[in-house]
Amino acid sequence: MLFPTRQIAARCVAFVESHAPPAVAASLSLVHLALDVTSPASKALEFFCPAISAVLCSQEAFPFAKQYWQHAGDGVSSRRAEFCHGLFKDGLLVRADDVPKGVAQKPCRGPRRYQRPQSLDAGTAPYLTNGSPGKQNGAVRRVPEVQESSRFVEERFGRNLDVSLVEHAKSAIRRRIAGALRSDKELSASPLPAMEDNTRGIANLKEEDIYLFPCGMNAIFNAHRALLGARGAMKSINFGFPYVDTLKILEKFGPGCVFYGHASESDLDSLEAQLEAGERFLAVFCEFPGNPLLTCPNLTRIRQLADKYDFAVVVDETIGTFANINVLQFSDIVVSSLTKIFSGDCNVMGGSAIFNPNSRYYAILKETARREFEDTYWPEDAIFMERNSRDFASRIDRANANAEAICQVIRPNPLIKTLYYPRYNESCPNYEAVRLPGGGYGGLLSIVFHSYDKAMAFYDAIETAKGPSLGTNFTLTSPYVLLAHYQELEWAASFGVEPSLVRISVGLEETDQLVGVFRSALKAAEESTARK
Ligand SMILES: *[C@@H]1O[C@H](CO)[C@@H](O)[C@H](O)[C@H]1NC(C)=O
Ligand SMILES: *[C@@H]1O[C@H](CO)[C@@H](O)[C@H](O)[C@H]1NC(C)=O
Ligand SMILES: *[C@@H]1O[C@H](CO)[C@@H](O)[C@H](O)[C@H]1NC(C)=O
Repeated sequence: MLFPTRQIAARCVAFVESHAPPAVAASLSLVHLALDVTSPASKALEFFCPAISAVLCSQEAFPFAKQYWQHAGDGVSSRRAEFCHGLFKDGLLVRADDVPKGVAQKPCRGPRRYQRPQSLDAGTAPYLTNGSPGKQNGAVRRVPEVQESSRFVEERFGRNLDVSLVEHAKSAIRRRIAGALRSDKELSASPLPAMEDNTRGIANLKEEDIYLFPCGMNAIFNAHRALLGARGAMKSINFGFPYVDTLKILEKFGPGCVFYGHASESDLDSLEAQLEAGERFLAVFCEFPGNPLLTCPNLTRIRQLADKYDFAVVVDETIGTFANINVLQFSDIVVSSLTKIFSGDCNVMGGSAIFNPNSRYYAILKETARREFEDTYWPEDAIFMERNSRDFASRIDRANANAEAICQVIRPNPLIKTLYYPRYNESCPNYEAVRLPGGGYGGLLSIVFHSYDKAMAFYDAIETAKGPSLGTNFTLTSPYVLLAHYQELEWAASFGVEPSLVRISVGLEETDQLVGVFRSALKAAEESTARK
């Protein structure tokens, strides 16, 4: 099992040790690979800090290691893996075990020397002596270091990437998430000017309050870890029907969690009673809206309870998106999966967490982050994410409009038992309470059919891409409950999450064409006869 840093690999080992029988955990060992700094070629690669830590384990221990990998989202991205594998094959990535266990990796030197604008056009001669594709005549040509490095990376990995812009890319992503960067221009070589106002409604929000992660799950995992680090070991509350791994994180890391599965006012009454009886919690974790029923908890009331009873509020805004809603005003931490519509292109993953500077836990959270946060967002991934997210706002508008058009086709259809969409549901006032002026209702909707057979016929007939994930540029249909909860269908149904639910993530296709696709699939379902 591969991880980006030795600290993270060590966390995986600690997880297995605390969850597996001792004899099983005893099989684990660690291998750390890092750049061979003695090689002349490695100079050009220091900027990337390429490293991989491997947890080796027996077959019996593997399921436990996999749990850590899955829940924490701490694995290596495919671009990091490919890059490091290339270096490994060339002998540039070597065992780093001479560094004693527990000693932090040499901190990344960072990209400062790449911040000057450089032309890559000048000079074409090979420049490296050892084992690199640039080797042709063995001569080392003196070229400026920056240019040499950039060229090496591009030639070695055959990519159209300007690595000099990685830190700018991360900065632009953070600002976009802050709602402080509306333009969709190319990045320039000079650093962005100071951040001014933002659409989050938090005047003192700074770029440094936004943290990037390799995926959304990792943002949630680290938000929880930061809170545990800042406030000590306390139980959390999972409020609302959760994304699978969120509940697992709260259950398996730290002292556990209390689960409220309906995100309703009566759930809040129960929670309030628990608090009044003297129970105390680390934090409430909720999604806004929830998945797959698009339920919206009452954030006003959760905030009031949090202030009174001293717990943090962590809101996952992935489905609503900050282009439609503003939940930061009610939250201590807002997390998001950037893999979804923020990227849109499903060729890169990412996650983010925002610390609200007005939170009562802000100072201790920042202190914890200073101590523990490792930026493991792979530079190439950041470049892709920045490019993809430039037109995020206009894509959201389009997805909003397409989703509403599909709702108009679905709502009157007699096969449909329930349509779940924030505009048309009981919890709608809670959505309206945070909807931005001009904000829509998002690109995700779920439909439940009266009959399971009709649901199958619809699913088989609909001419969209099919599969998990959401927020892609193209419409994506998924038998979500079967995919995510197949082993626990009755449990899911007890929260109103039914097996005949079909979840639709609405894409950017031409509205008329998309509406036609849904009409045809509904018609096919109407005409279908029950099958064995
Ligand atoms: C949300 O909670 C607030 C404060 O307790 C309350 O005034 C409001 O009516 C609630 N909203 C809904 C939709 O129940
Ligand atoms: C798909 O997503 C990318 C973002 O990566 C965007 O630039 C592109 O225009 C999108 N495609 C369509 C059809 O909108
Ligand atoms: C959601 O909205 C639909 C359409 O208005 C309605 O039939 C359904 O009962 C609502 N569901 C909930 C849980 O409010």
